[in-house]
Amino acid sequence: MNDFNDWGPATLGIRAAEPRTEEREHSAAVHLTSSFVYSSAAQAAAVFAGEEPGNVYSRFTNPTVRAFEQRLAAMEGGDSCVATASGMSAILAMAMALLKAGDHILASRTLFGSTINLFNNVLGKFGVDITYVDPSDLPAWGSALRPNTRLLFVETPNNPLTEITDIRALADIAHGAGALLCVDNCFLSPVLQQPLKLGADLVVHSATKYLDGQGRCVGGAVVGDAQRVGKDVFGFLRTAGPSMSPFNAWVFLKGLETLSLRMYAHCASAQTLAEWLCGQPGIERVFYPGLQDHPQHVLAKRQQKAFGGIVSFQVAGGREAAWRVIDAVKMISITANLGDTRTTITHPATTTHGRISPEARRLAGITEGLIRVAVGLEDIADIQADLARGLSA
Ligand SMILES: Cc1ncc(COP(=O)(O)O)c(C=O)c1O
Repeated sequence: MNDFNDWGPATLGIRAAEPRTEEREHSAAVHLTSSFVYSSAAQAAAVFAGEEPGNVYSRFTNPTVRAFEQRLAAMEGGDSCVATASGMSAILAMAMALLKAGDHILASRTLFGSTINLFNNVLGKFGVDITYVDPSDLPAWGSALRPNTRLLFVETPNNPLTEITDIRALADIAHGAGALLCVDNCFLSPVLQQPLKLGADLVVHSATKYLDGQGRCVGGAVVGDAQRVGKDVFGFLRTAGPSMSPFNAWVFLKGLETLSLRMYAHCASAQTLAEWLCGQPGIERVFYPGLQDHPQHVLAKRQQKAFGGIVSFQVAGGREAAWRVIDAVKMISITANLGDTRTTITHPATTTHGRISPEARRLAGITEGLIRVAVGLEDIADIQADLARGLSA
């Protein structure tokens, strides 16, 4: 077939693993079926035994889900991908497949709040230890390693402060200690960053975000090598069942077709918005990797193809002032999701990061005056006008 390695990210998103049935449809079909039928008992036995290729049951495999998995694997540069019911179940499946009681996770302290809860309250219950470190302080990662450290986990850029971690350097730290590095690549997508090519072992996604791109479906994925992902994570998924629905896989497959175009459009508007916010009244600080004064601007330029669609800013006056800005918007959606065509605004301290302790929030730099905007694809002038209302109030 096609040699995926020769294609750029836009072509891969459109053409990699194009599924086609004998009906010769041009746009992918959706296979909404829970099970599959056989011409004889002998054929059923052969497929169940893995002696003949074929699908058994959609908890394990499904043609539409497989097309999404193969396309995302090609875009990330991984051998295998396992699609899951949500981004959180991707992280859960990865951890359940690769860790055991007594193992230690070393993680960035600025992870998505549910990821921290999953590590502390779910994995912690089964005897996995977790330590959190400053994501951009590489020596801190090195000195927090333990003999039983099995996994390093990071989001870069992180949510909501857009701090960047050097993936190549962190992979070296992980591998030097015999551990794996897993990167949550949800903020940039494979169009703007391919962690596996920088040395990471595993990538997790919330497909709910940019891979869908229009805020329709919840889903996730784990990408990596054929053993850990293709066998171990897949083995957990087929037994435990946090599988992606075929309909959602079809939506994500269509989302990948426009991913490259959308990501660069999100980035262009986010850059304009970040620069504009720097000159607005009542703003103490703007967090965007594309700004020269971002602490990891140079690293972001080297590691990423562009700076992403998330802009956060801190207003003077704490929670009251932040809520006033949020409550003044008329077009922008007040919601915690991101990666949508529609711009969204949220107050991290009381939403996405509301369930972690005040101390963990303080250490992560999530103040009461912080607002996160996930810049959508509306005209930038309209986004600015909507925010200006609250900022001048
Ligand atoms: C960085 C990051 N990782 C993982 C997740 C979890 O994804 P999902 O909501 O699809 O379970 C989110 C969701 O907001 C996220 O922002």
